[in-house]
Amino acid sequence: MSFHQMWGELAPLGRDPRTGGYRRFAWTGADAECRAWFREQAGRRGLAQETDRNGNQWAWLGDPTRGDAVVTGSHLDSVPDGGAFDGPLGIVSAFAALDELRGRGVEFRRPLAIVNFGDEEGARFGLACVGSRLAAGRLTRAEAFALTDAEGTTLPAAMEAAGYDPETLGPDPERLARIGAFVELHVEQGRALDLTGDPVGVASAIWPHGRWRFDFRGEANHAGTTRIEDRRDPMLPYAETVLAARRAARLAGAVATFGKVAVAPNGVNAVPSLVQGWLDSRATDQPTLDRVVAEIERAAHEHAGRHGVDLAVARESFTPVVEFAHALRDELGRLLTRCGSRPPVPVLGTGAGHDAGILSGSVPTAMLFVRNPTGVSHSPAERATEDDCLAGVAALTDVLEGLACR
Ligand code: GLV
Ligand code: MN
Ligand code: MN
Repeated sequence: MSFHQMWGELAPLGRDPRTGGYRRFAWTGADAECRAWFREQAGRRGLAQETDRNGNQWAWLGDPTRGDAVVTGSHLDSVPDGGAFDGPLGIVSAFAALDELRGRGVEFRRPLAIVNFGDEEGARFGLACVGSRLAAGRLTRAEAFALTDAEGTTLPAAMEAAGYDPETLGPDPERLARIGAFVELHVEQGRALDLTGDPVGVASAIWPHGRWRFDFRGEANHAGTTRIEDRRDPMLPYAETVLAARRAARLAGAVATFGKVAVAPNGVNAVPSLVQGWLDSRATDQPTLDRVVAEIERAAHEHAGRHGVDLAVARESFTPVVEFAHALRDELGRLLTRCGSRPPVPVLGTGAGHDAGILSGSVPTAMLFVRNPTGVSHSPAERATEDDCLAGVAALTDVLEGLACR
């Protein structure tokens, strides 16, 4: 089955017809459809399948217990109204690369696996990379059990409703010990490759990043009768904090985004009692990120104080800087240039988080990026051309052949 056919089968799953964006949230019906698609692809290729204790899906060629497997894959879930490529490109490319390897008639000397990590985006429970974090022991079972979605459904309840056993959640060192190298192919989420004119690049590092929840608590009151001077309106310090975040990030060369907000009681004719805003902030290095977030918190407290509003800030997640293993990264460069007989492949850092970043603390990990002509991501407008996707498949095939077959 060609890349094009696989892409076509996956494309309608979890797509919102009104926006054209994807809503493939963890442990929902759309997620189940994507998982069924993965099972079908693995089944068609005669791969041995398993779902691990944390709900990650694996498809194996060769003996998983040998301990030196080459693993590739990504995720199938999405952000709200996400694009088609963020995650799925890595998995469709993995199946396509396996077909290509078989077509080349190569002999596998190491086991090969394709993985679909669960809940990478954290769109439903607020924490990204839940499947890989749990496996790597970077999220405890107790922390996972405490995760709750906007409707108040807990992660274990959602898993159970989807037919999975949450009792097994927890670190999975035995499964990680099977991996000799993990290579994740991903659509680029910026325009670096577009600017260099290359279809494919190799990752150098992932910026440190985190999510913080700002709870501004004021007093609900009547929008028509409450005098301006008598209000304790949490929307005002929230709005000023959004502007402060933008300023602090711009001055530091970092990024800071309030992309999610919840207002209570959320009535058009009521001064709100509570505004919760979620800050996502990232920077090239830890001291810069710390400085930016400290400045945003300082400004938020100052504005809250001026408006008689209480403020509580909680860090909901954090991922330190990831520097991908140099040896594996150099090996990818060598394989992609056929030992220097082709032009070098760009090496780029990214501000986006990935399961590869989580796993990099436990196993040798590398990433390939495929050009995104507009750089737009986490949006229905996310794009990659079919030619570039196929160049990505060819690159992944060369990398897997070099790592697993010779
Ligand atoms: C995941 O895509 C993230 O970077 O938030
Ligand atoms: Mn994403
Ligand atoms: Mn992704």
